[in-house]
Amino acid sequence: MTESNYGWGLPTAASTFAKEIDFGIYLIHAAMFAIFILWGIFFVYLLIRYRARPGVAAKHEEHGILASLIPDFIVLAFELCLIFLYAIPSWSRIKVETPGAQDSLTVEVTAEQFAWDIHYPGPDGKFGRRDPALVHASNVLGLDPNDPSALDDIVTVNEMHIPLGRPTLMGLTSKDVIHSFFVPDFRIKQDAVPGMRIPVWFEPTKTGKFEIGCAQLCGFGHALMRGDVFVHAPKEFENWLVDQKPALNPTGK
Ligand code: CUA
Repeated sequence: MTESNYGWGLPTAASTFAKEIDFGIYLIHAAMFAIFILWGIFFVYLLIRYRARPGVAAKHEEHGILASLIPDFIVLAFELCLIFLYAIPSWSRIKVETPGAQDSLTVEVTAEQFAWDIHYPGPDGKFGRRDPALVHASNVLGLDPNDPSALDDIVTVNEMHIPLGRPTLMGLTSKDVIHSFFVPDFRIKQDAVPGMRIPVWFEPTKTGKFEIGCAQLCGFGHALMRGDVFVHAPKEFENWLVDQKPALNPTGK
């Protein structure tokens, strides 16, 4: 649960691709540590080997430019492997190959100063039309009551409920400025940009409550722009869904 998720190490890995992201983080840290140690040893060696001594004149030796570039080529080869064998395939799996909508829970997430509005299509499975002119304190997404598919839509604020066992596919946008949807435990972070609808997906591997943070400085309330993702067992998720009142008719009359 969230209380114990943040310590000195990485937070809980709670999505299908979290381990893959962590591998990259560990690999880069290990490589940087190795380079730091090797350069440190080399530097100290040079300080001792070529220290000023009485009776020894400074002299210059030619070894050719190529020999001196060998360490750079080793680092370059490592970085090219990192890009082509790890980074690009991972990027493609996580950011490009989104799962099909029919196998996923589909939600629309709209960021605003300073909250996350989560839009579910309701029992008809269709998202209702939204009109910025209809946005109001009681209709945060501007759902259009004249659109029949909007009537059963569900809207939650700062609370995202999703099921375990299948991917969640989100369309992410913003009402005002650039925000960034960040769930550290899922290792997902994506900018929310006004006027754009950016697809984001993840599949949780654990039930529980996970923090949503805003990862883009967006105004005075940035630090307070927090929400929670609740990952439920599939049956429990269905129960939560049927308990929700339509956003346009919250009293359910
Ligand atoms: Cu929204 Cu920072």
